[in-house]
Amino acid sequence: MKRISIFVSGNGTNLQRIAEYFKDNQEVEIVNVVCNNPKAYAIERAKNLGIPLRMITKKEFNSQEFTEEMKALNLDLIVLAGFLWKIPSSLIQAHPQKIINIHPALLPKYGGKGFYGEHVHEAVVAAKEAHSGITVHYVDEVYDNGEIILQAHTKLDPNETPDTLAAKIHKLEQAYFPVVIETIINN
Ligand code: GAR
Repeated sequence: MKRISIFVSGNGTNLQRIAEYFKDNQEVEIVNVVCNNPKAYAIERAKNLGIPLRMITKKEFNSQEFTEEMKALNLDLIVLAGFLWKIPSSLIQAHPQKIINIHPALLPKYGGKGFYGEHVHEAVVAAKEAHSGITVHYVDEVYDNGEIILQAHTKLDPNETPDTLAAKIHKLEQAYFPVVIETIINN
């Protein structure tokens, strides 16, 4: 059995897709959803999906106790699916090459502090980039920096808006993220 934890801060469309993708897979269990935002719609999704929910405060998140709690879950993978806090070193060190993140742009461009969700798409459209895409990468101690596992591209149209680009990016995320997760946990 492969054991996954999914960290979320927002809408939770990736959480939903990943949970549905693995629903009938007896070899994969989503052990819990960790959420830092009491207003996140992802909370409703976790409840509807029947996945245990762990709400956290910043103080708890950065504590050694939280790292111990996660270690005790014996996870094969921690998936950051729209999770917006920086991961503390202790959690990273306790899970070497076992934490991955999805970023809605082609890193190293449009990464780092302040670049999340729609802010990324606004910046990409404003810069009139020809392409954007998604990056799935391992998480290290520098924000949006770890080894890249997969990138998928999409073209920007001449009349692209942040909203139309966001829709394209979500499609890529839905198509690729669960498959990347499956590949990683099976290797
Ligand atoms: C996704 O587009 C993800 O790539 C992005 O947040 C969105 C979450 O959507 N992540 C980041 O910006 C990380 N820096 P969701 O909550 O509907 O899955």
